[in-house]
Amino acid sequence: MQAVYAASINPDQPLAGLVVGERPEPVLEAGWTMVRVKAAALNHHDLWSLRGVGLAAEQLPMTLGTDAAGVDVETGEAVIVHSVISSTDWRGDETLDPRRTLFSEKHQGTMAELVAVPRRNLVPKPEGLSYAEAACLPTAWLTAYRMLFVNGQARPGQTVLVQGATGGVASAAIALARAAGCRVWVTARTDAKRAVALDLGAHAAFATGTRLPEPVDLVVETVGEATWAHSVRSLRPGGTVVISGATTGANPPAILNRVFFLQLRIIGSTMGTRAELGELLTFLASTGLRPRIDREVPLADARGAFAAMEAGELVGKAVLTVA
Ligand SMILES: NC(=O)c1ccc[n+]([C@@H]2O[C@H](COP(=O)([O-])OP(=O)(O)OC[C@H]3O[C@@H](n4cnc5c(N)ncnc54)[C@H](OP(=O)(O)O)[C@@H]3O)[C@@H](O)[C@H]2O)c1
Repeated sequence: MQAVYAASINPDQPLAGLVVGERPEPVLEAGWTMVRVKAAALNHHDLWSLRGVGLAAEQLPMTLGTDAAGVDVETGEAVIVHSVISSTDWRGDETLDPRRTLFSEKHQGTMAELVAVPRRNLVPKPEGLSYAEAACLPTAWLTAYRMLFVNGQARPGQTVLVQGATGGVASAAIALARAAGCRVWVTARTDAKRAVALDLGAHAAFATGTRLPEPVDLVVETVGEATWAHSVRSLRPGGTVVISGATTGANPPAILNRVFFLQLRIIGSTMGTRAELGELLTFLASTGLRPRIDREVPLADARGAFAAMEAGELVGKAVLTVA
């Protein structure tokens, strides 16, 4: 079958190890089923994998991709694949299982004609969502949902600062926070990206690092070193930073005196549960909100989409489609 996979690891030039080519069909484990993939979204996670973060050379070749929507081969049902694979004996919040993995870490990923998935990871795809829209949800949109509403406890009327505008998680956070009745402020690096942020639903967009008109209740942080100090400085006393990523580096200044003096809350967040994916689907159905898709391209043209993601050119999500 055709697949997009990591053939080698290269920390500096991740696309050097990216191959679109033939891979063997997946082998089913007990309790797993096969999904014929219709759409698979790109995430920054795929670039980390190609850089060797979370993926060791001895696991190669590894099909990339954490997200898929498609058809359950056994039942013929349209499905969305929840990306978090927990241990078979794990009960409760799947993201808290210390042995959890995502597709493309220990098990082959979703950027292929077929992917093997635990049956319990399947969620019915609502008819109102296209396969491409559905494929954007399990990583970027679910992560943003959990950051805002589960770990960040965002409430209508609060001011939420989203660092970064056009990324997968950031664009989802802007749209979700706006739809939930928050005042949404964004920082972005260029005029063009700030304009996109306003189009995505932000009430105001500022240059990265700008002092804000007033302190905010909650910061959605995925950028890391480049924005961390600004995130901490932008919070009101008792405010919260929720962080799920560190694209620009994981060792920013801690600014500890500000954290304790203002009683700030710094909360880590990773992916979301299968139940939260269900809540997100209901949220989209009731608001009419849909993921912003920058481009949909066939699996064979994955390289261009990866290059655009690496260059920071995507607005929202890139999705690979399978005929
Ligand atoms: N823990 C989890 O469960 C989880 C889940 C999803 C993602 N993540 C992580 O979160 C991060 C974002 O993921 P993604 O898929 O949304 O990535 P993405 O689509 O590639 O977006 C990257 C984001 O980083 C911003 N950015 C990059 N360099 C910047 C800089 N120098 N200054 C300011 N902003 C900068 C971009 O802002 P602009 O709009 O200004 O370009 C954009 O919003 C990644 O590190 C990813 O691994 C973690």
